[in-house]
Amino acid sequence: MCGIVGYIGYRDSYPILMDGLHKLEYRGYDSAGCALVNPQGALNIYKAKGKVSSLECIATSRDCTGTLGIAHTRWATHGIPSEANAHPHVSESGNITLVHNGIIENYATLRSQLEKRGYTFKSETDTEVLVQLVEYTMSLHDEDLVTSVRIALKRVIGAYAICVIDRRHPEQLVCARKSSPMVVGLVDDNREYFIASDASPIAQYTNQMVYLKDEEVVVCERGQSLRTYNLNGEEIDPEVKEVDLDISMLSKGGYPHFMLKEIFDQPQVLRDCMRGRVINAPYSESPRLSVVLNAVTQHRRELLRARRLIIVSCGTSWHAGLIGKQLIEHFCALPTEVAYASEFRYSDSVIESDDVVMAISQSGETADTMAAMEMAKRKGAFVFGIVNTVGSSIARLSDTGTYIHVGPEIGVASTKAFTGQVTVLVMLALALGMAKGTVTQEEYEEVLEELTRIPDKIEKVLEQNEKIRKIAATFTYAHNFLYLGRGYNYPVALEGALKLKEISYIHAEGYPAAEMKHGPIALVDSEMPVVFIATHHQLYRKIVSNMQEVISRRGRILAIVTEGDEEIKEMVDDVIEVPSTLSCLVPLLSVIPLQLLSYHVAVSKGLDVDQPRNLAKSVTVE
Ligand code: F6R
Repeated sequence: MCGIVGYIGYRDSYPILMDGLHKLEYRGYDSAGCALVNPQGALNIYKAKGKVSSLECIATSRDCTGTLGIAHTRWATHGIPSEANAHPHVSESGNITLVHNGIIENYATLRSQLEKRGYTFKSETDTEVLVQLVEYTMSLHDEDLVTSVRIALKRVIGAYAICVIDRRHPEQLVCARKSSPMVVGLVDDNREYFIASDASPIAQYTNQMVYLKDEEVVVCERGQSLRTYNLNGEEIDPEVKEVDLDISMLSKGGYPHFMLKEIFDQPQVLRDCMRGRVINAPYSESPRLSVVLNAVTQHRRELLRARRLIIVSCGTSWHAGLIGKQLIEHFCALPTEVAYASEFRYSDSVIESDDVVMAISQSGETADTMAAMEMAKRKGAFVFGIVNTVGSSIARLSDTGTYIHVGPEIGVASTKAFTGQVTVLVMLALALGMAKGTVTQEEYEEVLEELTRIPDKIEKVLEQNEKIRKIAATFTYAHNFLYLGRGYNYPVALEGALKLKEISYIHAEGYPAAEMKHGPIALVDSEMPVVFIATHHQLYRKIVSNMQEVISRRGRILAIVTEGDEEIKEMVDDVIEVPSTLSCLVPLLSVIPLQLLSYHVAVSKGLDVDQPRNLAKSVTVE
């Protein structure tokens, strides 16, 4: 939700800021803007409704000089997407300007207090209150920028990551955060600083990064060491981390869209995800293959004493959680619940100290998931994180956890993160099952052996891309879709439906196939595509019967089947085959055609696949 970039150093800031905004555009693209202090000390602010490219159309022909600048790409919360509501916002005097990611909950109160003191507001945003408040605080206390920001923030309720500059002090840039992410990259003995909402815009310049903690305020000054304060003004030592990001992951690598690249990246990133964890020891006695997860080894005691696991997550990560429940209950005999983080955080859930709460998140910044974890921690639970983004807030908040290591996911619709999460959940269920003695040696080895074959099998599914593209092109007329599956394929049905909704704007619902008779079947007619995920596993025959019910009502069926399934091929309009595998691993294969289907339907409809309307990649507001 909103991306922030800042730069202070000796190079022109404009190209750095624009490059950074493009990398953060996945966080929101309702409007974009930048503020640059030119060598004469003038503050140039450019803004545009829409994407960063619209901003570049306006700004590039204007004065874009200056080695100090801040920039923003917005996902609208308060106020419609418009130029007036675009950041940066400017103080009454025109000297101070600021970009913000988050929500100021008490903005209405602050705004009316400031209006009474003569401050005027030009936007409908909560952010404008912040910049006016900083200026008002400065006028009251006659303090420097960092102190004024710090004192102002003490009056703020809500979430913020901000970058602030003062035209009169072009030697410094001030940043702060609470509940919204912010990273500072340090370069060349502090000759320059790069600031961003995540490490992706910074990685090409440095691997030395400081992740701001809640209620920290930092001052970046050319040639000076980074200074960090808490809101009370006490100086804190910043913790510098070495973060190495694979920069090739941040480009489309020849694919037309990030989403397609990320779908095709899956075989390789799943190999990466297993590397060093699924260990092959061909000459050892037994087991030949084993799984080693540091989190399980180091926190064996907390995990073994768990009486219940509660998985909290949102969206696609919640779907992975539903698969995780089946895996953990099967291999570890541990009762498992899966909750939407947004519901769980406000529920009266009884949590005991021997409960383990597991948060699953690609971004590691989802506000509801974080709040659910905080609530669980307050009630004494042990918190385990399954996260993609290294160093993210959820990773840091977890008592322990496992990264999925699939590399940055840029396409707004999650693809490789889902399969990465499921892969980690399989490894975790096996490692824990082995530690508890609830999985047999034979099954453990069989599943691990098959898990290592999954990347090759995904490659076989991806070979059908062209066939799926042709099928997808015949579905652009549809207004509704049903996705049906059972057992391990039920969460896949939910995920397939979510993908289609997100990027094709076609209404789609996922259901356990047997539930169809209890209502959704009323929707079936010749216009209604029904996607059955009907691989050769649990309850296959019953799914075939459900298909007959749809066929009798002239519904149009696309079936995802196991290779060589002639029976279903005879019955239905279209089939896509996936290689045969174990039922607990089938989501890793059956989801692939559904990702490609939604991608191609959206492309056939001429839609913006990587940046679908109204969405943002990282949902840092509740
Ligand atoms: C769907 C999607 C979202 C996210 C959800 C949780 O394609 O991307 O539904 O899965 O917002 O995000 P994370 O996993 O970052 O917590």
